[in-house]
Amino acid sequence: MRQLLVTSALPYANGPIHIGHLVEYLQTDIWVRFQKMAGNRCIYICADDTHGTAITIRANAEGRSEEDLIAEVSELHQKDFAEFGVEFDHYGSTNSEESREACHEIWKALREADMIVEQEIDQLFDTEKGVFLADRFVRGTCPNCGSKDQPGDNCDKCATTYTPADLIDPVSTLSGTTPEIRSARHLFVQIEKLHDFLDEWTQSGTLPSESANYLKNFFLNEPLRDWDISRPGPYFGFEIPDSLGNFWYVWYDAPIGYIGSTKQWCDANGESLDDWWKSDQTEVHHFIGKDIQYFHTLFWPAMLKTAGFSLPTKVHIHGFLTVDGEKMSKSRGTFVEAATYLKHLDPSYLRYYYATRLSSRVEDLDLNPEEFVSKINSDLVGKVVNLASRTAKFIKDNGLSTEYPDDGGLFESFANRGADIAAAYEAGDYSKAMRMIMELADQANPYVENNAPWELRKDESKAEELQNVCTVALNLFRTLAIYLAPVLPDLAAKAGELFGEELTSWDQSQSPLTGKILNPFKHMMQRVDPKAIEAMIEESKELSEAAAPAEAGNWDDSGDALATDPIAEEISIDDFFKTDLRVARIVEAKEVPEARKLVQLTLSLGGDETRNVFAGIKSAYELDELTGRLVVMVANLAPRKMKFGVSEGMIIASGPGGKEIFLLSPDDGAVPGQRVG
Ligand code: MSP
Ligand code: ZN
Repeated sequence: MRQLLVTSALPYANGPIHIGHLVEYLQTDIWVRFQKMAGNRCIYICADDTHGTAITIRANAEGRSEEDLIAEVSELHQKDFAEFGVEFDHYGSTNSEESREACHEIWKALREADMIVEQEIDQLFDTEKGVFLADRFVRGTCPNCGSKDQPGDNCDKCATTYTPADLIDPVSTLSGTTPEIRSARHLFVQIEKLHDFLDEWTQSGTLPSESANYLKNFFLNEPLRDWDISRPGPYFGFEIPDSLGNFWYVWYDAPIGYIGSTKQWCDANGESLDDWWKSDQTEVHHFIGKDIQYFHTLFWPAMLKTAGFSLPTKVHIHGFLTVDGEKMSKSRGTFVEAATYLKHLDPSYLRYYYATRLSSRVEDLDLNPEEFVSKINSDLVGKVVNLASRTAKFIKDNGLSTEYPDDGGLFESFANRGADIAAAYEAGDYSKAMRMIMELADQANPYVENNAPWELRKDESKAEELQNVCTVALNLFRTLAIYLAPVLPDLAAKAGELFGEELTSWDQSQSPLTGKILNPFKHMMQRVDPKAIEAMIEESKELSEAAAPAEAGNWDDSGDALATDPIAEEISIDDFFKTDLRVARIVEAKEVPEARKLVQLTLSLGGDETRNVFAGIKSAYELDELTGRLVVMVANLAPRKMKFGVSEGMIIASGPGGKEIFLLSPDDGAVPGQRVG
């Protein structure tokens, strides 16, 4: 029996779980459930990742403490996970005493190994907001590959990590302003001291080959760069014991949260942490997305190695979710929160659909709505559940035959496939496992068709044959339910109820069940209604549009906007009416390829009247969310010749810039051409 410690990445506590996250948590949960069924000792550990500036900013905006915020988010995360059947052995928080202790232990080891140095560094400072900018609040051009609009810590396109000060043309996402460079003393981990170890470890079969090959480059020519792991306070996190006033950067304590959370599980279960984190007997398996591999494949093993913890046996790395071939998008309604999904669809559907799309390779996976419907309806309902629903009723009274009938070797071939299916689960190749299972279902269904139990039942002399046919069909169903149980625990539970036994062990697939009266057949799975998917997308769209106006009296508007931009000198009403504001409809929105901030809009004022306007709103809007909407324009502004053409007016918006640009739109009923005033 193997002993396995399995983790998923710790979700950030600053937002809800969405269907992108679920790729990972469902993938991990399936693996864990498979291991438990296979008889291995396995624990699944996770936690919320609670530290860093993002949490503080949101807590401040909501007028409450960080602790209050993270406690609420943790509840919501755990509720979502539970409803999707993601079953952790323990779900902790990085903001725990156990995590803090582990941070101290690893820090001490890093100091003793002489791995920490202090350096004066330049950090980006948002002068408007008066804060040092955490990596995630800066975007700009990747210094390595030149991709635009990349996050401050690592590039989505080429996956290089860097510090925000390295970005070309950085912009603060908090204020939209260009941040200023200020210097501060930071602590760094010199991971170059472990160059040879990391080079070898990353190539030792621990990582998917794509990732290992990619990492090779890092070791070839240059030394590994020192890793900046402190932030000057105030910072929501743990203060560094021998450098007061400085705090560990969130990515230092985040993976240590795996250990802290394991410690809590150990304490609750009378186990010793060393048996799980410092023992050759335990395999450690991390499941993560490709965006955070650098942290898990270089920094994390360096920390573990230095402090004498077990190294990960395997880091399972998955790609990103796209919906209908495109990145998840709030405006298109494809950025679906877990809670929204649950209002419309059965979580089993998503578990199965993802399983059919997941392999052991680091590939993005697409959620295609039509395919989603057909896979559930034709595979699960049509081929699997149908086996039971078409036969169980015919043997209500007599039960399963006392001896397993001659089925021409069907059951045996089902049982023999078990080892291959298990190997596919083990390798994370769920799509292959699902294919093999559906091939079996494709053999079972013709058996039922050919023996037509609904005909047999009409002839009393064929009662025994009827019982035998149903016994075979139900046993084939039972084996399929066992093979699918890691993916569809809910179906396995319902099948278990029918058979009067829990289907919890892989071995149960190897021998048929006989001579047993069954429990009444209960409905096991509904077909997907495509309308439910549409409704879910529509609701997600509305959620993102509304970001619901606060209840009356419950808003919390700061005075920042007026304070930074006071009201202008008084004017007369005549002065005001010099500005001719009109309602206009955006009838076309186009890229301006050479311009970083501009989009080209064709505005209709009704009839044939159109205007060409260049607007600096590219950072905040996608082209397809602009087309068709109503805006307010200054219609009598003198035309202005620009590099790309003539701009005939401007549209009205508020906000500091960057992502925070808010177009003004009239309420329903207004029509293009109407005067505003
Ligand atoms: N807090 C860090 C992880 C710290 S681990 C010590 C983090 N959190 S996250 O909430 O942004 O993401 C959690 C996991 O979900 C990551 O592994 C990430 O790759 C994964 N996913 C988030 N969005 C995703 C998609 N759209 N598609 C697939 N996986 C995605 O990163
Ligand atoms: Zn890049």
